[in-house]
Amino acid sequence: MMRTRPLKVALLGCGVVGSEVARIMTTHADDLAQRIGAPVELAGVAVRRPAKVREGIDPALVTTDATALVKRGDIDVVVEVIGGIEPARSLITTAFEHGASVVSANKALLAQDGAALHAAAGEHGRDLYYEAAVAGAIPLIRPLRESLAGDKVNRVLGIVNGTTNFILDKMDTTGAGYQEALDEATALGYAEADPTADVEGFDAAAKAAILAGIAFHTRVRLDDVHREGMTEVTAADFRSAKEMGCTIKLLAICERAADGASVTARVHPAMIPLSHPLASVRGAYNAVFVESEAAGRLMFYGPGAGGSPTASAVLGDLVAVCRNKLNGTTGPGESAYAALPVSPMGDVVTRYHISLDVADKPGVLAQVATVFAEHGVSIDTVRQSGRNVSSGGEAAIEQGGGGRREGGEASLVVVTHRALDAALTGTVEALRKLDTVRGVASIMRVEGE
Ligand code: HSE
Repeated sequence: MMRTRPLKVALLGCGVVGSEVARIMTTHADDLAQRIGAPVELAGVAVRRPAKVREGIDPALVTTDATALVKRGDIDVVVEVIGGIEPARSLITTAFEHGASVVSANKALLAQDGAALHAAAGEHGRDLYYEAAVAGAIPLIRPLRESLAGDKVNRVLGIVNGTTNFILDKMDTTGAGYQEALDEATALGYAEADPTADVEGFDAAAKAAILAGIAFHTRVRLDDVHREGMTEVTAADFRSAKEMGCTIKLLAICERAADGASVTARVHPAMIPLSHPLASVRGAYNAVFVESEAAGRLMFYGPGAGGSPTASAVLGDLVAVCRNKLNGTTGPGESAYAALPVSPMGDVVTRYHISLDVADKPGVLAQVATVFAEHGVSIDTVRQSGRNVSSGGEAAIEQGGGGRREGGEASLVVVTHRALDAALTGTVEALRKLDTVRGVASIMRVEGE
């Protein structure tokens, strides 16, 4: 039976995502009503610039007073798509206090204050849904929170930032350097004027925190996520990767330790074999691998950003929350009962690809190998290519090594077996101190094997 009294929705933010949410709510109104069991009505839209013309939105609904809107008392669901920490956090909390459930796309806020927001929702018997906060349109939160609730997730490995994937894909396919690829991403609208959040990995780290928390039933905050950006990835790194049969991706990796007693979450660029499905994720697409005990390996793929895809995820949550409301129930809240410790990056077990410029003379290889052995890191492969130093080369060496040296120089590429990240870091530090190591050209983890 269709209820005739509509459920009222307040929209906070009417930018790229919010305007799409409003548009779909209008154009699909009849279908949404059938799916929910009651009509949904846009009851107010909070914006910063009220004078801006917003096609399809009744100007009478537009307000700059978001607080008054969420305090109205007749609002059933608040959709928060303004992003950032404040005023979003206060508005969401106020919405719960005044009887509304919340659908949010706010990854930064969820990664920082998810526990407190869940607690506030629980205290007031309301829903907090946020499918759109991670990987845009790709269903990921609901599969982890509901479909896999009976399984044990051991690993989540994914590309969760489209901007950086676009840049890295460009570098891979065209041989471009980082800046050139970033410039193209900016010109095409993939990268923002200030790309820091994307290229330094903050965006992906927030998503990793959210995914790890849900996957491992453990609170994982943004500060728990080890983060390295991708601004230092070079065209030379891509050439090295190709020689290994790999490409380079900015990965978010959330893992349960082998003994199951702790978890880790990290974001950094890594080499990944071309045979791995994530290697073929092109352009601005996202993809996430979930490995669980019973289900095995699952891959989720699709558009991870953009107004319409993100609005799709918001609308899915809106339907779910409205259904819950009509049924007098709420969906799953926070599940953090496992409360596993989040280990530091040094405890991660991974492989390294290290390119060194070394003096090409007897004993150097043995010296380098000894450093690896002393740190308990087992070498998988070593590849050396020698080159005689011309006068120009010597000048370069003098600048880098602080003194004129005799003889040739060689490029040494070492790929390790799996080892503790702390041991690998220690190895690299010790290598840098060797007189015969004239430079560490690149260090990259190798994942997905
Ligand atoms: N800036 C993000 C990306 C989308 O490039 O994937 C929003 O999280």
